Amino acid sequence: MNSTDFIVARSDLHDCKFIETPSPDAAALADEALLVKVDRFAFTANNITYAQLGDLLKYWQLFPAPENFGKIPVWGFGEVIASRHPGIDAGERLFGYFPMATHLVIEAADVKKRGFRDAALHRQSVAPVYNAYARVSGDPSFAGREGDYQALLRPLFMLSFLVDDYLAEHDFYGARSVLLSSASSKTAFGLAHLLHTQRKGIRVIGLTSAANVDFVRSLGCYDEVILYDQVASLPSASPVAYVDMAGNSALRATLHRHFGDQMKYSGRVGQTHHGNSLPQEPELPGAKPAWFFAPDQIRKRASEWGPGGIDTRFGAAWSGFAPTLETRLTVVSGHGPEAVKQVYLDTLDGRIPPAQGHMLSLAT
Ligand SMILES: NC(=O)c1ccc[n+]([C@@H]2O[C@H](COP(=O)([O-])OP(=O)(O)OC[C@H]3O[C@@H](n4cnc5c(N)ncnc54)[C@H](OP(=O)(O)O)[C@@H]3O)[C@@H](O)[C@H]2O)c1
Repeated sequence: MNSTDFIVARSDLHDCKFIETPSPDAAALADEALLVKVDRFAFTANNITYAQLGDLLKYWQLFPAPENFGKIPVWGFGEVIASRHPGIDAGERLFGYFPMATHLVIEAADVKKRGFRDAALHRQSVAPVYNAYARVSGDPSFAGREGDYQALLRPLFMLSFLVDDYLAEHDFYGARSVLLSSASSKTAFGLAHLLHTQRKGIRVIGLTSAANVDFVRSLGCYDEVILYDQVASLPSASPVAYVDMAGNSALRATLHRHFGDQMKYSGRVGQTHHGNSLPQEPELPGAKPAWFFAPDQIRKRASEWGPGGIDTRFGAAWSGFAPTLETRLTVVSGHGPEAVKQVYLDTLDGRIPPAQGHMLSLAT
């Protein structure tokens, strides 16, 4: 039996291909190791960002690939098909971080009722969340359409949740309007949903491209939706906070120059407009743009809220958000290598309509 892996050239993400290798031998697994069949995974612009930052943030180290190539990490589901760990049975269903591949060998450690982690040495350079696997057999909230929503949105919504919490904690740095770029992205509309439903008195303004403006308006969680080339029409006399999913240097400069000292917060979250960011950012008026670093906020809240404090609050936020997805998102399933490659290239080049959420499987 063979394994199939989708690999991309680290220096040119359009250069991509499949490789076939003999599947890991179940009989030769090390003690406590698992052989997992990767079943179904989500693919969004966030995965493209993992690839772009693969060297910088060490994502390429998670799933080793042939020299100069990388395996892009994805959130999804796997099934244990062979286990050398006494506490984990073949047939168990897992949710976590997988390569775009048909198989993964995991060195199971810290095995608990609800999950465990991969202790493989080459995976230890990233935040613990990327090595954690949830044991989701029989859990209805990780099955069917609910499961698709978890894979497509839960990791993104954690960022939305943390930014909402961070901004509220800092009283929005005095701003009463929050601008979100790439407002059509799942991460942005998750944040817009939280601001809209929880932060009374905060005006949520979505910035987007002409192609996606109707979708953003239809979401119902933005008070106002503005095209990128019309941002200079926004009133500039009141303080604003900017949460940047697009990573577009020209847009950022325009906004900072337009709002000047009224730009009270400028947090960088994503870079959906890849290819539009300058290697050296210029000095800009207003708050200094800075990357929002999720693990910092997680650490802070974990110590303040205590054990389970983040999970409980995040769970409550997710319960309010997930039911809205039914009308906001159409899940599109793709099977087999050609479908996977097409969705990858379409996502890379910004051709996926924002109302679609793609769930992929390498099995035909
Ligand atoms: N820092 C973190 O921890 C963290 C966590 C979660 C997400 N993020 C980041 O947030 C961003 C959004 O991710 P997502 O998965 O939510 O995105 P998504 O739902 O797939 O968003 C797609 C949107 O991004 C824009 N876009 C995508 N590809 C483009 C291209 N090639 N050219 C121009 N625009 C393009 C378009 O929006 P517009 O037309 O509206 O611009 C498009 O509708 C990513 O950069 C992701 O890495 C960061």
